[in-house]
Amino acid sequence: MRTIRLQLRFLVPLIAILVGAAYLALPLMDKLTLRWFARDLQLRGSLVANALSDSVADALPETRGRRLQTLFDRAVQDERLVAIGWCSPQDVIVRRTTLFPASLDCRSASATAAGKEPTLRIAGGPVLVTVHPIAGEAGPAGSLVIMHDLSFIERRSQDTRQYLIVLIAGLGAAIALVTVIVAQLSWRGWVSGARALLRGEGLVRPLVPPSPELEPLAAELRERLRDLDDEYRRTQGPNAEWNPQRLQSLLRTQLRGDEVIVVSNREPYLHERDADGGIVVRRPASGLVTAVEPVMRACSGTWIAHGSGTADREAVDAQDRVALPPGDADYMLRRIWITPEQEQGYYYGFANEGLWPLCHVAHVRPVFRESDWERYREVNRLFADAVVAEARSDDPVVLVQDYHFALLPAMVRERLPRATIITFWHIPWPNPESFGICPWRTEILEGMLGSTILGFHTRYHCKNFIEGVDRYLEARIEHEHSSISFRGEQTLVESYPISIEWPGAETQQAWADPATCRSEVYARLGIPADHRLAVGVDRFDYTKGILERINAVERMLEKHPEWVERFTFVQVAAPSRSALDEYRVFQERIQAATQRVNTRFARAGGDVVRLLAQHHEHEQVNQLYRAADVCLVTSLHDGMNLVCKEFVAARDDERGVLILSRFAGAARELPEALIVNPYHVEETADALYQAITMSAAEQRERMASLRSTVREFNVYRWAGRMLTDAARWRLRQRVNERVQRGSAG
Ligand code: F6P
Repeated sequence: MRTIRLQLRFLVPLIAILVGAAYLALPLMDKLTLRWFARDLQLRGSLVANALSDSVADALPETRGRRLQTLFDRAVQDERLVAIGWCSPQDVIVRRTTLFPASLDCRSASATAAGKEPTLRIAGGPVLVTVHPIAGEAGPAGSLVIMHDLSFIERRSQDTRQYLIVLIAGLGAAIALVTVIVAQLSWRGWVSGARALLRGEGLVRPLVPPSPELEPLAAELRERLRDLDDEYRRTQGPNAEWNPQRLQSLLRTQLRGDEVIVVSNREPYLHERDADGGIVVRRPASGLVTAVEPVMRACSGTWIAHGSGTADREAVDAQDRVALPPGDADYMLRRIWITPEQEQGYYYGFANEGLWPLCHVAHVRPVFRESDWERYREVNRLFADAVVAEARSDDPVVLVQDYHFALLPAMVRERLPRATIITFWHIPWPNPESFGICPWRTEILEGMLGSTILGFHTRYHCKNFIEGVDRYLEARIEHEHSSISFRGEQTLVESYPISIEWPGAETQQAWADPATCRSEVYARLGIPADHRLAVGVDRFDYTKGILERINAVERMLEKHPEWVERFTFVQVAAPSRSALDEYRVFQERIQAATQRVNTRFARAGGDVVRLLAQHHEHEQVNQLYRAADVCLVTSLHDGMNLVCKEFVAARDDERGVLILSRFAGAARELPEALIVNPYHVEETADALYQAITMSAAEQRERMASLRSTVREFNVYRWAGRMLTDAARWRLRQRVNERVQRGSAG
């Protein structure tokens, strides 16, 4: 319909113009043909006059004029001559043939012949008048007035008119037809172009119509495009949720079982020697591990990480590999060993004293040391070598995790140019001014642009990164596609909000009910049964806002002293990066603040603030979540924060209140939480009071909504979206390569 309207918009004016042209052209045509024929007839008249002149001169002496009359009558037998008259030197008609009009005198005939349109309409039809003086022996003898037939011109011009009309109509029809065909074709082209864009193929170089050699390729492309329409979604319906099966189906159909390699600093399981000399397996306190491990269980493949457990070397085979998770062997962990100097410079130094405070902007000065940078580069090279060594093909899918490996993407790209490198940055990305203080800002950006896809938690971090590239590198940025072209390679910069694995029915059934969890936790920690319980679960890190949280507890009790005897706050703080001064000082400050508040509100029912500064296994943390009335997540800056999502997932009873910092990426997804500015003690204290006094109905309403969000936007969706983008990218790459090979051959 739309194309017809567009075509009509063109065709109607075209037809109007053609009709107008015909209307103007026809009289013009008539005039022109008349002029051409008049010229011919005048010439013909002169010839006739010349031919007759001698005979006329001979016949003139004959006084009765019979010879002259006979001569003229014979001449008009020619079908093109209608009448002839003879004018004396005194301009009197002395002889004329039958059809010569009696009313026409010599002067009028001469005037007509000399006029612009030397024509007359007489009894025999339209005629052209020519006058030819004839000389005798003694000077001018008179003049011949010849009338030539014009009716044949009218007949011819009618024929010409018909031809012209047919020609214009034919021309109009041909133009209209071409227009319709071109419009149809280009509309289809636009539509399929737009569809291709929607399918994410907008960056594909348009393929020329496939030549016979490329036909098989075109067929394969069509088939792969059908595959891209997610098999799992097709079989399970459009609202199918993301789960391990869907991720596996995506890997099978879209990545055709391509090899997946994960690189991270932190390993998913540590083997540690316990006090009795035995080996225990431990899960580290790491959001990264929480998110990536279930994905790896679904994808299989190889995970390359730093072996930091005290018994890690004893658990690996000759190739430094160990199958995980213990007992299931879904994927392989390849452990990388680094020296204490390398760990100091790369992990503690550049990553955690430099990049960590640089990206978090939590008012801790980043420290940049040349020697740390050297170690950072060294270790990135070590891990890049391991990726190349582990790759079974020249185009593996490499998932690079976090700020420990900013240089690795370009290093891998150099050695495996066909690899699909997806780098996910788990922490915030600062604005260009803040980032600009890093002495190696260009090297870091260049290293990261070795990635095929670069993921951040939020659009805001993507924007900061793109602006940083714009400021510090010579790169071409396509804001529309959120992509960066640098040194001939393209990187897609996209937001992929990370999440957790939503607990399945089996897992949930294994949980103790909330009341049991509550009584066990209360008993273990000696909390009086009538107390409201608030919890915080974090690594012991200055970005988490633990101090601000304790201050808010203090302020809330100050404002509402009736709660001093009925409220307890438990803070789990897993030791982290304790080798760094900044962290040690921070831990001391927290201990001091805890002591201060506990002394101030000393009471019979034990301390108000319980600081549990040790590692807790996931099951213990889950029990705490299920026992709590409130969970406090007050990060000063956080890429996403998964504690808040774990708390929500743990509350299948739809109870409990989440207080969430506006500076955590999760705040954008979880607005039903009580959102606070942790720097504002008053606001956080009020939110805490609101939480402990919130009705069960309101808790249920908020929690139900939070749960449906976290359930849907789970970690499989996070990985699935990245892998789908990667699959599209690989398909484009393969097609382009084959098209180039095809057209070169
Ligand atoms: O927040 C970034 C991050 O890598 C998280 O993914 C993880 O929770 C944390 O840092 C782990 O820190 P580390 O490995 O230094 O203990």
